[in-house]
Amino acid sequence: MSAAARRVVVVAGLGKGSGTGASTARVFAKAGYSVALIARGADTVNSLAQELNSAGGDAAPFSVESYSTQDISSVWRSIRAKYSAPNYIIAAAIFNIAQGFWKPFLDLTPEEVQQSLQINVEAAFAFSREAILTFKENEIYEPTGKRGALIYTGATASLRGNTTTSAFAAGKFGLRALSQSLNKEFGKDNIHVAHAIIDGGILTERYIQYRPELAKDPDARLSPDSIANAYLYLVNQDRSAWTWELDLRPAHEKW
Ligand SMILES: NC(=O)c1ccc[n+]([C@@H]2O[C@H](COP(=O)([O-])OP(=O)(O)OC[C@H]3O[C@@H](n4cnc5c(N)ncnc54)[C@H](OP(=O)(O)O)[C@@H]3O)[C@@H](O)[C@H]2O)c1
Repeated sequence: MSAAARRVVVVAGLGKGSGTGASTARVFAKAGYSVALIARGADTVNSLAQELNSAGGDAAPFSVESYSTQDISSVWRSIRAKYSAPNYIIAAAIFNIAQGFWKPFLDLTPEEVQQSLQINVEAAFAFSREAILTFKENEIYEPTGKRGALIYTGATASLRGNTTTSAFAAGKFGLRALSQSLNKEFGKDNIHVAHAIIDGGILTERYIQYRPELAKDPDARLSPDSIANAYLYLVNQDRSAWTWELDLRPAHEKW
């Protein structure tokens, strides 16, 4: 790897640009990373890339039609083609994609169950495969002793099912299982795989619209920027003492 190679982060799952995915892109851009943005549809990726580039960053939009394995593999091919050695090194990948269905079990349709598992689990397998194959080609980055870092965003539902979360929790449990397995399998290759349990509501525009009463006490919610700073910390950890699982909750959460 060239000493001058610029580090690249791939961030997948950006919603409308006010949540954890977009904050992660902003925080890493400020830290000097080039940012490859993946989301469904062109609007958010284009406007976020423009915002980051106008602020002096280096970001590129990669919209996908779906989170099928085929679309994810294809978008990673485009990302690798744009961010190739010796000028770039793809050093981190953040799987922030999710799809929630908040319904009692008997109201769930087979299609919703299938979609939840496809987006929360199958897409994570596809994304992880591409990230790991990419990192395996990297040389060790001396400041951390790592070839790359792969981070997943989890939720309370990664650990606990509840009355309306059977499909979502099944997906988030699956995601957590994948991250633990990959941490164990690829640690020996100096590839850091970490999972973050976000144990509380995140203050996104969608959340504020959906449950305005909960946004009144911001100390009981998580800020997407604070989560993003935790992700940067994970990526900067060195391999002698790295985190598999980070557990983030707001100060006033009654857990
Ligand atoms: N929001 C919360 O209170 C909360 C709490 C605990 C854990 N989490 C987890 O934290 C991660 C980040 O969530 P976030 O809330 O901060 O959102 P985000 O980062 O803006 O987007 C994360 C995922 O949610 C999808 N999404 C966002 N807005 C959507 C909408 N209006 N309709 C349909 N899908 C939408 C995104 O879709 P695209 O893929 O199309 O971009 C993306 O896959 C997710 O993995 C989530 O499960 C969220």
